[in-house]
Amino acid sequence: MKIETRQEFPNFVGFVSGVDLKKELNDELVKKIDEAINKLSVLVFRNQNINDNEQVRFTKYFGKIEASGNKSNITKAKDRRLSTDLADVSNLDKNNKPFTINDPRRIFNLGNRLWHTDSSFKKIPAKYSLLSARNVSKEGGNTEFADMREAYDCLDDNTKLKIKNMICEHSLIYSRQRLGFDMTRELSSEEIKNFIPVEQPLVRKNNFTQRKTIFLSSHIGKIKDWIRPDSMCFIDDLIEYATQTKFKYIHKWSQNDLIIWDNRQTMHRARAFDDLKESRDMRRTTVLGEEQLI
Ligand SMILES: [Fe+2]
Repeated sequence: MKIETRQEFPNFVGFVSGVDLKKELNDELVKKIDEAINKLSVLVFRNQNINDNEQVRFTKYFGKIEASGNKSNITKAKDRRLSTDLADVSNLDKNNKPFTINDPRRIFNLGNRLWHTDSSFKKIPAKYSLLSARNVSKEGGNTEFADMREAYDCLDDNTKLKIKNMICEHSLIYSRQRLGFDMTRELSSEEIKNFIPVEQPLVRKNNFTQRKTIFLSSHIGKIKDWIRPDSMCFIDDLIEYATQTKFKYIHKWSQNDLIIWDNRQTMHRARAFDDLKESRDMRRTTVLGEEQLI
């Protein structure tokens, strides 16, 4: 296995070659990949023509799989295209047809265009995400990643002090509100209980590298002990700061790319494409986090 980095960003994003994810991997190789994720946050594997089972097997080398279901999406079980081991981040219904313009599932998925970390709205947030590009759009549909460790390191001392013990409330309801999508109207009072906000610290530390990181996401709707409008202004300023070009990597997908990223120390977002006409089949597996942070 070889891992190359970009000259000007030696600690963010690695390009991996010499690994075939269709095959089983030995413990030593898995350890090296795991260490590289901790250090580089994003790993890109090209030309991995894998199926769902192979993606699931690879994911399980890094921990337990976070099941995709009614706590992370509004798609009903009967309408799922993929097994619950995979999160379907495509624009496709179970007949592989693009969602129509007003389909609530399409509008819900538009939330992926906002900067976020996966499952920060869960009590135990996700560790890694693995996204496999089975079919890509001809134009657009890039994914952007931002390095939250570098963003933390570059903060001025006053802001570091201000956010040191800050607690934020995360929920899918908040990120979807930003799009004008009111989940409380789309879901029953029973279903909406799956999306009750959870508290997360704004600063966390990677125990492997000891680097601090800003645990930031568009799922944040409130800072503890602040009123919501002040919270939103502060968080939006911080997201704008943390996603400057100097902290960012833009990935232009090719079919059969697979990317692993570390949700504990990055944010990401999907970019627009002609989703009413083109098919973009992207399948995500998620490694469950290991710890509740509060
Ligand atoms: Fe995501």
